[in-house]
Amino acid sequence: MSENKVKITVKGKTIELPIRSGTIGPDVTEISTLYKKTGIFTYDPGFISTASCESRTTYIDGDKGILLYRGYPINEVAENGDFLEVCYLLLHGELPTQVQKKDFDYRVQHHHMVHEQFSRFFHVFRRDSHPMAVMIACLGAMSAFYHDSIDITNPHQRMLASLRLIAKMPTLAAMSYKYSIGQPFVYPLNSLGYAENFLHMCFSIPCVEYKVNPILARAMDKIFILHADHEQNASTSTVRLAGSSGANPFACIAAGIACLWGPAHGGANEACLKMFEQIGSVKRIPEFIARAKDKDDSFRLMGFGHRIYKNYDPRAYIMQQTCHEVLNELGIKDDPLLDIAIELEQIALHDKYFIEKKLYPNIDFYSGIILKALGFPTSMFTVIFALARSVGWVAQWKEMVEDPAQKIGRPRQLYTGEVKRTYVSIKKRK
Ligand code: ACO
Repeated sequence: MSENKVKITVKGKTIELPIRSGTIGPDVTEISTLYKKTGIFTYDPGFISTASCESRTTYIDGDKGILLYRGYPINEVAENGDFLEVCYLLLHGELPTQVQKKDFDYRVQHHHMVHEQFSRFFHVFRRDSHPMAVMIACLGAMSAFYHDSIDITNPHQRMLASLRLIAKMPTLAAMSYKYSIGQPFVYPLNSLGYAENFLHMCFSIPCVEYKVNPILARAMDKIFILHADHEQNASTSTVRLAGSSGANPFACIAAGIACLWGPAHGGANEACLKMFEQIGSVKRIPEFIARAKDKDDSFRLMGFGHRIYKNYDPRAYIMQQTCHEVLNELGIKDDPLLDIAIELEQIALHDKYFIEKKLYPNIDFYSGIILKALGFPTSMFTVIFALARSVGWVAQWKEMVEDPAQKIGRPRQLYTGEVKRTYVSIKKRK
């Protein structure tokens, strides 16, 4: 490697590739001319060594356990700010002044309601539909309901779509929950804060007065803050790739939700709680730990490990504290699933296999426990993740659309299939 260049020799021909530096984090070598100059592609399944874009939004140092939103450490943001402040920060790049925050809160509040016909849209689904399936459909449908904000070349429409998304996700998420349990939809209340409003729409019913507990609302808000963005993870990369073709923001977010649903990503919090249920009692933990270590068994401990964080997940630390606050507030002491979670955490933190492979409890491990304590069924866990991540998705989508260097995403491949063959008619095939 010469200074600020990577030298690469292919079939006797040496070329130099430029190295670019960000403000922090590893440098990158720019390989866009590699194919033209050498005739070879790079091969990196899972993007282990590949930066897919330039971004100013979120920074992660997985070895040091650092997560910054627009430069601000996640713990400082989570302790001092609220979710809408984080939304403003991610969208605009700066923390709002008091006046800007008041105006932003007002604008989000006034977009909470969804088109009245949306309530009829829900009724086409079976009651037992997974709410993530319903959410993917809802986001697709938003392009139809709000087509005055899908012209991606118009900055005003881009911001309007972003605000609508942030404001309507809690309403749609709560509606998908209410529909699944056969209760009437609850309209948003603009006098409530963002997280309070979500709890109100999920848990209040017309016949009983519902007062939102401020400690639980704060916990909900922290869950939203901690899930708001996480640089180029699978679902965000999906949103960017979908958006690179010029697709509208709501369609792109629908794609992101679909990706998030997978158990290796956002579906892990649901999978984690299901795993506690499968384990059933503290006595059976060693059996499952042995399975997680067995190379011939596909079982993995859900809620453990992270592609990027190989030291600890800074969000998991905040979530762990919040988890204890919520359980204290609700007076939950003898929950069998919680006992399993606490024991698993201790065993895995001291077990050689998990230490050597740097597998620590991730954010999903604790968020699942909190959401269960708040009263959400497991099927809603990933929906709540999607709700919070929407701001990250839309902020990164906007950043991409506004980037003059943006091109349609089109990866290449290493083809290992059959080479050219002659077609044989069906009558002659053996
Ligand atoms: N339980 C047991 N072993 C594990 C686990 C686990 N949860 N996670 C990784 N390993 C082992 C692998 O078997 C592998 O072992 P090997 O080196 O002997 O082959 C090694 O650790 C590395 O695993 P990879 O899958 O290569 O690590 P990767 O960085 O690709 O995967 C992932 C990260 C997908 C998160 C993985 O740890 C996992 O599946 N965890 C469980 C699911 C989960 O909690 N996902 C949530 C992620 S956080 C989020 O999306 C918000």
